[in-house]
Amino acid sequence: MHAIDAILQRRSAKTLTDPAPDQGALELLLECACRAPDHGRLRPWRFIVIRGAARERLGELMADQLRRKLPAASAETLQRERQKALRAPLIIVVAAVCNAAAKIPAIEQILAAGAAAENLMLAAPALGFGAMWKTGDAAYDETVKVALGLQSADAIVGFLYLGTAAADGVPPPARGQWEDSVRYWGEEDGVRV
Ligand SMILES: Cc1cc2nc3c(=O)[nH]c(=O)nc-3n(C[C@H](O)[C@H](O)[C@H](O)COP(=O)(O)O)c2cc1C
Repeated sequence: MHAIDAILQRRSAKTLTDPAPDQGALELLLECACRAPDHGRLRPWRFIVIRGAARERLGELMADQLRRKLPAASAETLQRERQKALRAPLIIVVAAVCNAAAKIPAIEQILAAGAAAENLMLAAPALGFGAMWKTGDAAYDETVKVALGLQSADAIVGFLYLGTAAADGVPPPARGQWEDSVRYWGEEDGVRV
């Protein structure tokens, strides 16, 4: 797929089912992720692959986080939270482990991990898979981070859900709507200086 088409047609999958990327495709996705721009070559990104029954353990962690935040949450609400981890056959948690001693500001290290996540989001459809990028409160929860092998100072930039996108009849995103975000600085009066 042409890179420009891949970018312009990217959208979040609504429903993800089996098959998930196999080991070869997964490794290619991870290699693509690691080609992200990286100030200082610190490689701040980490990828935690969660599949099969391990997703149920992630679902428990998410429900536990919600229970701690909302002690009055109903059993139904907690079950819905648990099920979120099962909405795709493969989850890649993308995290940033920032090097506080480095000259590179932490935000740039987090941005590098975000760029790695976006590489993955673009590579997945190129290999025929769908993807969705989610965070939610669990991404900021210390207990969840530690259970995933991270430290509280580390940042989870996304839970990337991957699988085969079900045909949902939703057309590709329309072009446009970018102009409002753009300003040509120094040309406000229409004169290039
Ligand atoms: C860092 C980050 C976190 C996100 N977290 C969520 C989330 O928790 N829940 C959600 O519905 N969408 C979340 N999104 C947005 C979706 O991934 C998606 O991009 C958005 O709904 C727009 O749809 P599209 O990707 O099809 O354009 C997040 C996006 C980013 C970049």
